[in-house]
Amino acid sequence: MGLDISSINGHELEGKKILLCITGSVSSMESPRIARELIKHGADVIPVLSNSASKLIGPELLHWATGNETITSLTGKMEHVQLANGGDDSADLILIAPCTSNTIGKLAQGISDDTISTICTVGLGSDIPIVIASGMHEPMFENPILQNNISILKKNNVTFVSPIFEHNKAKMASFHAIFDEILSRLFIQDLSGKNILVTAGPTTEKIDPIRIITNKSSGKTGLALANEAKRRGANVTLIYGDGTEIPPTSIRTIRVSSSQELLDVTISELSQIKYDFYFASAAPSDFRILDPSNDKISSRNNSSINIELEAYPKIINSIKQISPSTKLIAFKALYGNDSNSISNAISEIFKDSDADFIIVNDVSRKDAGFSSDYNELNMFTRNDSFKFPYASKKKLSKSIFNQILKTLT
Ligand SMILES: Cc1cc2nc3c(=O)[nH]c(=O)nc-3n(C[C@H](O)[C@H](O)[C@H](O)COP(=O)(O)O)c2cc1C
Repeated sequence: MGLDISSINGHELEGKKILLCITGSVSSMESPRIARELIKHGADVIPVLSNSASKLIGPELLHWATGNETITSLTGKMEHVQLANGGDDSADLILIAPCTSNTIGKLAQGISDDTISTICTVGLGSDIPIVIASGMHEPMFENPILQNNISILKKNNVTFVSPIFEHNKAKMASFHAIFDEILSRLFIQDLSGKNILVTAGPTTEKIDPIRIITNKSSGKTGLALANEAKRRGANVTLIYGDGTEIPPTSIRTIRVSSSQELLDVTISELSQIKYDFYFASAAPSDFRILDPSNDKISSRNNSSINIELEAYPKIINSIKQISPSTKLIAFKALYGNDSNSISNAISEIFKDSDADFIIVNDVSRKDAGFSSDYNELNMFTRNDSFKFPYASKKKLSKSIFNQILKTLT
């Protein structure tokens, strides 16, 4: 598919196929926007229109909005089975937005006499998550028979996103409310209610107004961790240096440049919010320029220059002092994989920062580490160690959270 808006607001739904079923409500004019928002969070969206909805909005608009052909009828391809049987080609989730009183009634009573009700009948039988966002006038919503149908569907594991009651209408919920329910149906919400602070990317130190000292970190590891935490229900804040990645708009992001700014924002965040986890995955500059020039240093007037650097205090050593209960996950980039250097580095970090976990990677490799989408990691606690074999940073983030949560229980 590959629309140019894919994942521009986040990566939460990457690899997920969502069947967006649209029924004949005034709210169906919102559906192309919902489709685009889902795509902006990484989803592949297949649109399905009921006959009534086709009279209100057209299949071509949905085709344009999603990059996929709109399904308006069932054919010999058996779309209802192919897309809703839980197999390889099947959708991961069915979203009916908006859903009419008519379609709710059909689904609750097991009727499958049109495209959407037939697809959903198969989906219910295959246990595919179904999320419904209804939209209608309030008296229609208050109909006791409809309410009864809604409770039947809820008992059958269908998720309802509560409508917004306004001006005598039970309007379809906002995209964000729908999105939250989708995330909670697709992913285990084992970080729900947790506050997580992630630092990512390199910091830069000014030599003069246009020249800097920095490092090769891209911020990909930190962003992958932030995305994974968000998918699993956490409240995530990202402190991001001058990395090459575009942080997702769905994650609260504070941009920093120098190591001093990274430290200042860290202190301010830890003083204001009770963070459960601090992932120190940024690559802060270990040195600051002692006397940066306010003017551009001229090479005409200086055949050579000396730049004096001063070592910064380690940011991770302040975390436990400010917030002792925050679990600290320190990252250490080592050049090479000599086992003595690794064991010296980890014992120093445990001593100086009182970290709960240390994650070590070898940045000398061409196929892993800085700027790469892949890595191989070793994680240490004071008593144990875990190896995460070569994999994408997205997959590694999942394994890191799985292991950390397992270790802490
Ligand atoms: C302009 C218009 C707006 C409608 N809005 C809604 C609505 O918001 N909610 C609803 O349940 N039905 C609404 N209806 C009625 C449904 O379209 C009608 O019940 C239809 O049979 C639904 O078929 P479907 O569920 O297959 O799309 C509307 C009808 C029209 C003509």
